[in-house]
Amino acid sequence: MAEFVYYVGSSLDGYIAAHGGGLAWLEQFSRVEGVGGSYGAFEKTVGCVVMGGGTYAWIRSHSPGTWPYSVPSWVFTHHELGVDDDADVVLVRGDVVEFADELRHSAGGKDVYIVGGGVLAGEFLAAGLVDRIVLTIVPVALGGGVPLFGGRPLPEPAGFALAALVERGGTVELTYRRT
Ligand SMILES: NC(=O)c1ccc[n+]([C@@H]2O[C@H](COP(=O)([O-])OP(=O)(O)OC[C@H]3O[C@@H](n4cnc5c(N)ncnc54)[C@H](OP(=O)(O)O)[C@@H]3O)[C@@H](O)[C@H]2O)c1
Repeated sequence: MAEFVYYVGSSLDGYIAAHGGGLAWLEQFSRVEGVGGSYGAFEKTVGCVVMGGGTYAWIRSHSPGTWPYSVPSWVFTHHELGVDDDADVVLVRGDVVEFADELRHSAGGKDVYIVGGGVLAGEFLAAGLVDRIVLTIVPVALGGGVPLFGGRPLPEPAGFALAALVERGGTVELTYRRT
């Protein structure tokens, strides 16, 4: 059965982007040995990706004309956003719960990669639809920015168990499974 996996990089203080969306503080660590390999191995397990409109806009503005995913990409947005000709992108809106089965089906036996950002990941978390979190913490504090899960309080705490921990050049990759 497909799992919903939030694979994400975060600052020490729990932000996934600086104010304004900047990621340079995070991207510098992609050169650390093993970090790229970890993502490459994860990518092979992914059957479709899902993201919010904010992340979609960020990706399109930073790699114009080049959509980075070869698997189906689901984008939650209330806007009729542009889609590159060769990109397999579906624009949807509404409660994430209503799309859970369709996303699993779209993943074709692999996992559903929750790309982010924090707002959309928070909706999956609130719906009990985050099976696994692969969180890479880098040794940088931002003081503010886009929170890991959007900052929306949950009705009750969601518990996770630590399944793996890998240290790479000052970064720590933590894998958590929903309990
Ligand atoms: N560090 C990392 O690994 C990482 C990973 C991913 C993203 N990021 C960064 O995170 C930032 C974006 O994160 P974010 O939390 O601000 O935004 P986001 O989660 O990407 O997108 C939120 C937006 O998506 C739309 N949306 C969300 N839920 C929806 C629903 N149920 N139905 C319809 N539309 C819905 C809404 O915008 P509209 O309706 O206006 O479209 C909402 O404002 C970017 O800077 C990105 O680069 C970092």
